[in-house]
Amino acid sequence: MTEANKQEARERAILCALDTGRQVLNEAEAVTAAVSASGWARTEAEVSLEELRELARTAGADVVGTVLQARPSADAALYLGQGKIDELKEMVDADRCDLLIFDGELSPTQLRNIEKATGARVVDRTTLILDIFAQRAKSREGRLQVELAQLQYRLPRLAGQGTSLSRLGAGIGTRGPGETKLETDRRHIERRIKAIRQELKSVEKRRNMLRARREKNGVETVVLVGYTNAGKSTLMNTLTEAGVLAEDKLFATLDPTSRALRLPSGRNVMLIDTVGLVRNLPHQLVEAFHSTLEEAASADVILNICDASSPEYEDHLRVTEEVLKDLGAEGIPTLRVMNKCDLIFETPHRTKDTVYLSAKNGSGVTLLLEAVEEACPKPRVHVRFRFPFEELSQASILRDDSAVLDEVYTEDGLELEVICSARMADHYKEFLTEQNKEDEHVSDDRRQ
Ligand code: GTP
Repeated sequence: MTEANKQEARERAILCALDTGRQVLNEAEAVTAAVSASGWARTEAEVSLEELRELARTAGADVVGTVLQARPSADAALYLGQGKIDELKEMVDADRCDLLIFDGELSPTQLRNIEKATGARVVDRTTLILDIFAQRAKSREGRLQVELAQLQYRLPRLAGQGTSLSRLGAGIGTRGPGETKLETDRRHIERRIKAIRQELKSVEKRRNMLRARREKNGVETVVLVGYTNAGKSTLMNTLTEAGVLAEDKLFATLDPTSRALRLPSGRNVMLIDTVGLVRNLPHQLVEAFHSTLEEAASADVILNICDASSPEYEDHLRVTEEVLKDLGAEGIPTLRVMNKCDLIFETPHRTKDTVYLSAKNGSGVTLLLEAVEEACPKPRVHVRFRFPFEELSQASILRDDSAVLDEVYTEDGLELEVICSARMADHYKEFLTEQNKEDEHVSDDRRQ
């Protein structure tokens, strides 16, 4: 599809939300909100609606209107009140709107009733988020996981809707991963869910094998986690010039991507990007993406990247830390990376476990590299190896991952003097020279 076509194809959407009057809980937010345009502290619904607007834009919709109704709870049949729904119908006609996006989870009944009453297509927050994930999934595993979550969410919402769904054509909420259109037939969906589950099992096996191989080779891992749009991909690019897709849209990253990163001492670590977190992440997705986030649980160092310029930054840090705790990643050295400090006129600096930097212009990145180096739990050792000629391939793995101080060929093979991780030294211990084998310092520092 050309850019011009994409532009034409943008759906015109109205955002609809309930305001139960709950204030934002976080004090910092309230302070920022107090000086916002309205002059009043914002409610949770307003903050959430703002995020919904970003999500809608990311999914490719043009937001042409917003409806926020103050009510203590959702109406069982229509979510909003009858009067508001009538008003919505008028807006739909006047604004030539194709789509209503509700900032909550709609029951199958509410969804059907609202569509009937307004004549517009209706999606809820979960469907919207799943749609965005579907457009962005790149790897085989990511695509399978998203499609599974979409089909599971769609299945109970099919009742009595078969024909209207197939009539709906393309658009937000009907798109599967890639260019595919989501199944609308119940039996097909059930069959597809079964097939995806089976395929995912074999993909997961492969992932575990890769992780095991990394561990076996003694490669240390640094995992980037954080709220969506915090700047993880940008930081990864700046750190490794990896060329990972970075866009000013939510969820630019859906699959973990790994790249080698060279630290100031010369040691190489594996830098792994993970999927961005989001407020009220649909639980189907939390489950589906657990496996990608699990990388964090086996990491040597975790970088919690946060957009320091966001008024919700404290909330974002808290959500991320909770997820890490759920994953069992407590106890792993974690650095907070307060990114985008160029936007808040903060000079890059470092405190004990926090680094303030700008991933975009690179300032403060050296501070981060030093902090990562310090946080990497394995000590570095200064050792000498002797690799016989028939084992030279092993030497190249070691060489890639260490600071090489000296390198000489003798009649017995290659002698390498390096500074490497104790884990690496241990891995290649059969090639250590006699002097090093006796060196207590090496064996003491080794990871068991
Ligand atoms: P997801 O893939 O959604 O999880 O996002 P992400 O955390 O990978 O964010 P990404 O790197 O895609 O950055 C999001 C937006 O923030 C992009 O427009 C970046 O250009 C911008 N950005 C990232 N770092 C900085 C920074 O240090 N300063 C400024 N001003 N903008 C930044």
